[in-house]
Formats: sequence, structure tokens, C-alpha cells
Amino acid sequence: MRVLVTGGAGFLGSHLCDALLSEGHSVVAVDNLITGRTINLDHLSREPRFEFREADICHEFDCGKVDYVFHFACPASPVDYMVHGIATLKVGSAGTFNALEVAKRYGAKFFLASTSECYGDPTVHPQPETYWGNVNPVGPRSVYDEAKRFSEAVTSAYRRYHNVDTRIVRIFNTYGPRMQINDGRVIPNFMKQALTGEDLTVYGDGSQTRSFCYVSDEIAGILKLAWSDEHKPTNIGNPGEFTILECAKRVIEVTGSKSKIRFEPLPQDDPKQRRPDITKAKTLLGWEPKIDLMTGLRLSLDYFRETVQKTAAVTG
Ligand SMILES: NC(=O)c1ccc[n+]([C@@H]2O[C@H](COP(=O)([O-])OP(=O)(O)OC[C@H]3O[C@@H](n4cnc5c(N)ncnc54)[C@H](O)[C@@H]3O)[C@@H](O)[C@H]2O)c1
Repeated sequence: MRVLVTGGAGFLGSHLCDALLSEGHSVVAVDNLITGRTINLDHLSREPRFEFREADICHEFDCGKVDYVFHFACPASPVDYMVHGIATLKVGSAGTFNALEVAKRYGAKFFLASTSECYGDPTVHPQPETYWGNVNPVGPRSVYDEAKRFSEAVTSAYRRYHNVDTRIVRIFNTYGPRMQINDGRVIPNFMKQALTGEDLTVYGDGSQTRSFCYVSDEIAGILKLAWSDEHKPTNIGNPGEFTILECAKRVIEVTGSKSKIRFEPLPQDDPKQRRPDITKAKTLLGWEPKIDLMTGLRLSLDYFRETVQKTAAVTG
């Protein structure tokens, strides 16, 4: 197959490109580099089945005939989508229309990277796909949450009105190599702080919970869903639930750091609990994550250590 990956220079997009290439497909990655980095794709520069195009998908685009469109373009970390709030709304709306138009034009399948943020600050725990969410439509996180909810609506409409063969994954917190060290997400933040000897910043009292999925597990689940016939939203994430405080302690343990934990006020609309119900992925796709948090942190450690050292060398 010839596969298009929007957001291919990002954290997940670049891992997806690798996985698709290793399955034998040709890949064209489109990215405007607003939050992605070409360094994530440097290792593919001599790969004849891989092509990178720098473009903003909020404008109509065409990369020639493709058989599958994986739509991953969207700033994803809270720091990024707060800075690029309007761009996030645009890529979730105009960008999603344009990516779907490509699929429609070529009769290609379409896969949307959606998010657990669709559930907002959930009142149901853990969150099954049938839960419609609890999102503040005018709060600071709405630029991301509502953009993704809209992307799901457009994707479902293209299926209904234009017969595009669609899939929707709701990705829960995923971590691993190639994440940006300064993107404000929990694990890179803690890793950077632990590896530079700074205190680890925990917001509120740290009792809010998150679940963390290692990137290879997430990509395996995404591909299982992509090759399945399921078109309704499907959660892919790791149901292991940790308080933010526990997570901070584990990062300190894995890095062997002497850092302490510092508590700061909780940001507005910060979800108290997030944990996927993955019953559907287990029964329908036969998928479940294999890598627990400590193992995933150990697998990520070399990457974060090198990145911290490189950043220190650049900033002197
Ligand atoms: N990483 C996670 O834990 C997580 C969780 C839930 C959902 N997701 C979703 O997965 C996808 C990838 O997330 P990520 O963590 O890799 O983030 P990322 O920021 O590393 O990747 C997003 C990529 O999209 C590109 N992009 C953004 N706007 C674009 C535009 N208008 N045109 C072309 N390219 C554009 C960025 O430059 C970047 O390379 C996103 O859609 C995100 O919402 C990720």
C-alpha cells in the first residue's frame, strides 16, 4: 500500500511511519513542523519507500494516489496546544476536512488519531467508548478537546455521507523516545527534572491519576485497529492507573536522581482521573499493552538522558 501519514514528523507519527515501513508499505509523511521535528525522520532519509513533504494540511493538498490516510497532525501536548490554540482548532477542523478529502478522492481508508481528551474531566471511570464526555467548551483546554471532538464528527459524517471507510482511535497518554523534552507532558517533564537534578513539579496534591502507555504498545494497537473493520471510536491505552505522585516517585527511582518533589497549584480543567476501559480493544482486536510503567521508563531512559545532555550542550 501507499500510505499517507499527516503529522508524520511528530512523536507518534514518526513511530507510525517506522511501523508501516516495516510492514512493507510505502509512506508519504506530510507535516508543517509546528510541533514536529525532522530529526524524528532522519533515520529514514535513505529509505526509498519513504517520502517527506513539508506542508500545512489546513490548506488543500495532494500527494498523489494513496490507499490509506492516517491523520495524526495536531499539536498534542498541553504546552503546545495552549501556545498554538488557533492552529490546533484549524488543523482539527480544516485539516481534518482536507485529509478526508484526500481519502475520498482516492477511495482510500481513513484513520483518525483522536484522544482521551474527548472525555474531558470524566464523571465515569474508567472511560468506555460509549461515554460521551464532560468537556468545558470554553475552557483553556477546549482548543484541543473540542477540535478532536469535531474531528470525530467530521470523520463520522464522511463515512455516512461519502462512504469513506473510516477508523477512529482514542489514544490515551502515550510516552517514549522522540517526545519533546519541553512539551509539558508528565513523563518528559519528570524525566527532564530528574535528570537535571531539579525538583519534580507535581500539580495539586498529586492524587489525580493518569495511565501511561508505552509507544510500541500504542502503535501496535493502532495498527490492529487500522487493519480491522471497526469504524466506531476505540480506546487504545494502558489501563494501569497511577497517581501523578506515584509516577514522580517511579521516575526518581528509574533515573536514580536525588531530586525532590515540589507541589504547585492545579491548572484549570485538569482532569482528576483518566483511565481507559480497553475491554473493546481486547475483545475485538485481541490487543492489550505488554509494557508496564517501570519497564517503559527504563526503555525511554537513554533517549531522555541523551536529549537532556544535547539540550544542555546547546544552551551552554
Ligand atoms: N501522544 C499522546 O499521548 C497522544 C494522546 C492522545 C492523542 N494523541 C494524538 O496523536 C497525534 C500525534 O500526537 P503526538 O503526541 O505525536 O504529537 P506531536 O506534536 O509530536 O505530533 C503532531 C504532528 O502534527 C504536525 N502538525 C500539526 N499541525 C499541522 C498542520 N496544520 N499541518 C501539518 N502538520 C501539522 C506537527 O508538526 C507534529 O509533527 C495527535 O493527533 C494527537 O492529538 C496523542
